Amino acid sequence: MIDHSTIQRIIDTAEITEVVQDFVNLKKRGVNYLGLCPFHNEKTPSFTVSPSKGIYKCFGCGKGGNAVNFIMEHEHLSYPESLKYLAKKYNIEVVEKELTAEEIQQQNERDSLLIVTKFANSYFQEKLHKNTDGRAIGLSYFKERGFREEIIEKFELGYSLDVKDAFTIAAKEAGYKIDFIEKAGLTIVNENGKFDRFRGRVIFPIHGLSGNVIGFGGRILKKDAKAAKYLNSPESDIYHKSRVLYGMFFAKKSITQLDKCYLVEGYTDVISMHQSGIENVVASSGTSLTVEQIRLIKRFTPNVTIIYDGDAAGIKASLRGIDLVLEQGLNVRVLLLPEGEDPDSFAKSKSSGELIEFIEQNEEDFITFKTRLLANEAKNDPVKKENLVREILATINNIPSDTLAAQYLKVCSEIFNVDEKPIYSEFGKLRRQRKKKIEERKKRLVIDKNISHESSFSSFIEGYYAESQEKEIVRLLLHYSDNTLYTDQEDKYDEPRNVSVAEYIISEVLHDDLEFKNLIYKQIFQEYFDAISSGISISNKHFTSHSEPKISELAASLLSSPYKISDIFKKGGLHIETEEMKLKRIVPETIIAYKRKILEMAIEEVNGKLKLAQEKDASLDEIYQIQSESKKINTILNTISRERGWVKFK
Ligand code: CTP
Ligand code: MN
Repeated sequence: MIDHSTIQRIIDTAEITEVVQDFVNLKKRGVNYLGLCPFHNEKTPSFTVSPSKGIYKCFGCGKGGNAVNFIMEHEHLSYPESLKYLAKKYNIEVVEKELTAEEIQQQNERDSLLIVTKFANSYFQEKLHKNTDGRAIGLSYFKERGFREEIIEKFELGYSLDVKDAFTIAAKEAGYKIDFIEKAGLTIVNENGKFDRFRGRVIFPIHGLSGNVIGFGGRILKKDAKAAKYLNSPESDIYHKSRVLYGMFFAKKSITQLDKCYLVEGYTDVISMHQSGIENVVASSGTSLTVEQIRLIKRFTPNVTIIYDGDAAGIKASLRGIDLVLEQGLNVRVLLLPEGEDPDSFAKSKSSGELIEFIEQNEEDFITFKTRLLANEAKNDPVKKENLVREILATINNIPSDTLAAQYLKVCSEIFNVDEKPIYSEFGKLRRQRKKKIEERKKRLVIDKNISHESSFSSFIEGYYAESQEKEIVRLLLHYSDNTLYTDQEDKYDEPRNVSVAEYIISEVLHDDLEFKNLIYKQIFQEYFDAISSGISISNKHFTSHSEPKISELAASLLSSPYKISDIFKKGGLHIETEEMKLKRIVPETIIAYKRKILEMAIEEVNGKLKLAQEKDASLDEIYQIQSESKKINTILNTISRERGWVKFK
């Protein structure tokens, strides 16, 4: 964590025009500077930088903020990462502090893995370019595939010698501990010795969002039926396959600018498309898409075009996965390549202009594509047709927007050549079921059976302001909204349901009719509520890049200090807990602290009232009334003070 005075120094030093000018061509216009906005496509400049105010603002797309916001938005870095970027630019030494022993250990471990991985990346590149075998085998392989020198360098492709442990020995000699080399997945250690995982393979490094290499894919060169064509790094502290999309680091700028992302299957598809001038492309690396990967794309654009191989037998199998993408509210299009082609071969056979033209003319929206595919299958068999129409309707039902869904119903009735009426009425049923589900989810948020005390807050909370507690709750939401807090099963025949931190917090606050007083916190809370009650999850990027600058600023600052909350609860011996265990305790305790604070303020006021009443000889009736109010609050206070929310999750 960066200490406060350093943050201030960075912010004070960073000169907005200097920071922006690294990416945007600016011209002076009066007291301001003007340029083409890097966040949307425009031909006449509406991107303004004000050196005196230290901010930028685009009058075309509305994006705006200070130098740190600019780097966050433009480079897609987190708040602390952006601060570090600026510190580097201005040679400011970053002092990091306040980490617990456990956090330091974890950070060190991650750093160590990153460092070993970085070493491996330069080692493999060096072998590809400088080693005789590397050049003869690896480099000539890439050249044969038509990869040009500059693209090989851009993607940092490499080669791992076909020797049992050449890399392992080199890494140890360079001073890296075998423990970390193994954890990074570079060396396999077993009873027969130590083996380079990627020996005899060409290497595709996998970059994280900020450009660090976090893992590798290695392709075999020999025709060996037994060995897998690709080997990938195993899961580690720095590499989580389900959260990574290959090529995202190189694609993010172009995705944002063009507001569109192409999704392909493999490493070579991404690289060939880049070589042909299409840079907004990422690969799922051969597996079906995960929700995390979808959300990753959603951080940059809602528009995805999935490119399928011309002979993909897997298309039907992958259709189901796309419902997941629709559910997240993305606009999905599909491009089917001509028979026998994959994006890699296809991109090579075309100039970049031809390629773009082909894509634009042939991509079609996913629902139309799927409908056509299924309609073909049904031919004229009426029973089959009915079932397939149902299947399409279920898919359309995943689309959150009603108007969009209605448009697709038309498409469906046209392609299947059936009347609109029955389609509408069938869909109406599905839609009502969906809405009912959403309603139920909303209700479940409000009525939480686990809460033992009765809610009688509402009568005396008006006007009390628990500022720091509200803030703490918002901080928890921003950091951990999606984490599962506990698993709930209403009765044994029900599916167990994961209750997230956000769902818990929302239900606790609404159950007692509480309402945040700080308008910014209230707005954030409301946005979580809206999203969650319609089954959508929102990333914290939604808040750091919020159009309301007060919200983006607050989110950025709360997200930059992830560990502060745990300090509050660092009681005897308790800090050898995993983060998840901590959440089970911290989240309910924070809620309790918030409610307690409100009650304490209420008691103070009632006591004041009582004193006043006694002083001015109020009637016994009046005094009795105040006393009973005071008693009521005290009872609730005692109940929730005794409550240790986390016990109920065990
Ligand atoms: N893949 C993998 N493990 C395998 C096969 C494939 O991880 N055994 C992943 C790789 O990320 C690969 C992607 O799935 O890039 C797509 O597989 P495929 O189309 O077979 O490979 P290509 O990328 O087309 O590679 P090449 O053209 O070299 O055959
Ligand atoms: Mn291929």
